Amino acid sequence: MQILVLHGPNLNLLGIREPQVYGATTLEQINTDLVAHAARRGAALSTFQSNHEGVLIDRVQAARTDGTQFIVINPGAFTHTSVALRDAFAGVALPFIEVHLSNIHRREPFRHHSYFSDLAEGVILGLGAAGYRLAVDAALDRLNAPQNP
Ligand code: DQA
Repeated sequence: MQILVLHGPNLNLLGIREPQVYGATTLEQINTDLVAHAARRGAALSTFQSNHEGVLIDRVQAARTDGTQFIVINPGAFTHTSVALRDAFAGVALPFIEVHLSNIHRREPFRHHSYFSDLAEGVILGLGAAGYRLAVDAALDRLNAPQNP
């Protein structure tokens, strides 16, 4: 089983960036935990962060043929702006779960709309770094489900 975790813009600053909103855990700590957690469940997990829309699109497109079976993504601010990144997900047709550290519906109105949620298998909001672990577990449960080819 192979899972890809994608992090969008400014998430490289986790731990420093608005800790009252996003928590004190760094991106490196999140990634290390997810790799170890997936390994305990017998799965390979890779992570990728970029501040650049096109680079994220290229990574999603590469996932179509590199063995990735499921994507977990926090698109950061691209959540609310990027038709192009949404189209990449529609194009590769890989299942994905959308994660946000904060509950975007409790925040400014411009954060309430996501270009990804209607394509996602599921959406996890407002649970901080724990949300990624929940998403990875849900992805692995789906991949392990007997009806999954
Ligand atoms: C975020 C929410 C977005 O609105 C914001 O632009 C981010 C982080 C979250 O994880 O809560 O960069 O995706």
